[in-house]
Amino acid sequence: MEIDYDYFSPASTDIALYKKLIKKQGELVCRDQIYVDIISKSLRQHSFGVLAKTRQASTGRNSPISDDKWSLLGFATCEPFDDDMDTVILSLICARKNQKEMGKDLMGIIEDQARQLGYKKIQLFSLPEPHLSRWYERLGYKKGYVIPDYKTGTNKLVTMTKKIF
Ligand SMILES: CC(C)(COP(=O)(O)OP(=O)(O)OC[C@H]1O[C@@H](n2cnc3c(N)ncnc32)[C@H](O)[C@@H]1OP(=O)(O)O)[C@@H](O)C(=O)NCCC(=O)NCCS
Repeated sequence: MEIDYDYFSPASTDIALYKKLIKKQGELVCRDQIYVDIISKSLRQHSFGVLAKTRQASTGRNSPISDDKWSLLGFATCEPFDDDMDTVILSLICARKNQKEMGKDLMGIIEDQARQLGYKKIQLFSLPEPHLSRWYERLGYKKGYVIPDYKTGTNKLVTMTKKIF
């Protein structure tokens, strides 16, 4: 399977296609862990991002993505951090199940892009699932403080940061 990794920003020529793909297939790619309103919010605020896509092999009637030419395999979006010009926030990262190392690859691309744009640190807000913070820790992110989820006020999010210089 041939996979395209596309870097994007609000000025990208194909930004409308990318947004459509992510909004339409995002929940599936995010393994139904993240809903379309959060996905759309991350797109509204994004300053740059990356997506992995592959051409649809067939358009089976039962496929939830049959009317698109592209199958989205993963994506990540970043937004600036108003309080610190050296830091960029990773708003969202999702990778389809069974795409070996896809999440890790997307993180690597995001880190390279952030470095090229002059950022020195990446910060993210991890959902409280232990497997997720362990995954980020394996990629070099360090746990910081815990904050309540702004939406529910109860779920905790863990801030995690990585120096990238
Ligand atoms: C985070 C994510 C991008 C990582 O993608 P990936 O590189 O393909 O990695 P995987 O999901 O396959 O696996 C990461 C590890 O977490 C484990 N894991 C994944 N989902 C899990 C779950 N629901 N419960 C327990 N463990 C889980 C895997 O077994 C794996 O552990 P291992 O490395 O020890 O085998 C991907 O899990 C994802 O899209 N998750 C849903 C959306 C999400 O939660 N995004 C992060 C928001 S903070």
